[in-house]
Amino acid sequence: MSGFSAEWLALRESHDVRARNPAVLDAVATMFKRRDAASVVDLACGAGSTVRALSSHLPARQHWHLVDNDRRLLSLACSGKFAGDVKLNAVPLDLSSNFEVVLDGTIDLITVSALLDLVSEPWLDRFARNIAARTLPVYAALTYDGRIDLSPADPLDAAIASAVNAHQRTDKGFGPALGPSAAAAAISRFEALGYSVVAGNSDWLIGTQDHEIQLELLAGWADAAREVEALPHRDIDNWLTRRKHEVGARVSTMRVGHVDFLATPIVIR
Ligand SMILES: C[S@@+](CC[C@H](N)C(=O)[O-])C[C@H]1O[C@@H](n2cnc3c(N)ncnc32)[C@H](O)[C@@H]1O
Repeated sequence: MSGFSAEWLALRESHDVRARNPAVLDAVATMFKRRDAASVVDLACGAGSTVRALSSHLPARQHWHLVDNDRRLLSLACSGKFAGDVKLNAVPLDLSSNFEVVLDGTIDLITVSALLDLVSEPWLDRFARNIAARTLPVYAALTYDGRIDLSPADPLDAAIASAVNAHQRTDKGFGPALGPSAAAAAISRFEALGYSVVAGNSDWLIGTQDHEIQLELLAGWADAAREVEALPHRDIDNWLTRRKHEVGARVSTMRVGHVDFLATPIVIR
């Protein structure tokens, strides 16, 4: 499964839903409490997990502009059915070159989910400056922050996690990615631009029964470690065999660190 495939996004969605930080979600809901409609732009929407996670926290009348460069994911995202008057509008767009066009018009909220760790520092700067120029709030969910805790512990876990984090900093289509430092960088950018930020962890807590996602994560981490050439391939293969054995024995658990935040302009629109 590739990092953006519909199959992978479907597999991770239930973990994302459980992980989303409730205080940050509450802060988003509170922002819309006295409004009867919400117009939202979801950047890199994938198969639409943010609409599904957020819709019930927003006023019944919603207009979502779902932006992604993958037309198959966009059509999945737009096929969702929701209670209330929820309109979904697909916007095929390569965000690496041009995203400003989707920030204009009547917009109440920008959302992103599992995106900011993929982007580069210059892209994040441009994103934050453009959002601030329009005094828009941003709900950014599930930014990977570099923490991987596996149980039972294996002597090679730390070296693999460090190789994975080196891989996370390679180019994901936006220039060298911020990877594990993305959430902290984004929060400090928005604060410097006069935003108030509510932030909290949204870690995946993956249990012994969640063998499918565990096996996918382990295979992806082993591939990433091989690609950055940080460890002998034989060590990586042996680590993977040991970890798969723990998954098969239903004793393996994982915590994967993420951060959610809501950044609100201090000047209310
Ligand atoms: C990890 S997925 C997250 C999807 C969704 N937000 C979620 O939380 O399930 C990253 C998404 O970014 C999209 N993406 C990656 N590069 C992009 C680009 N240059 N322009 C637009 N979308 C892009 C992918 O197609 C994918 O849907």
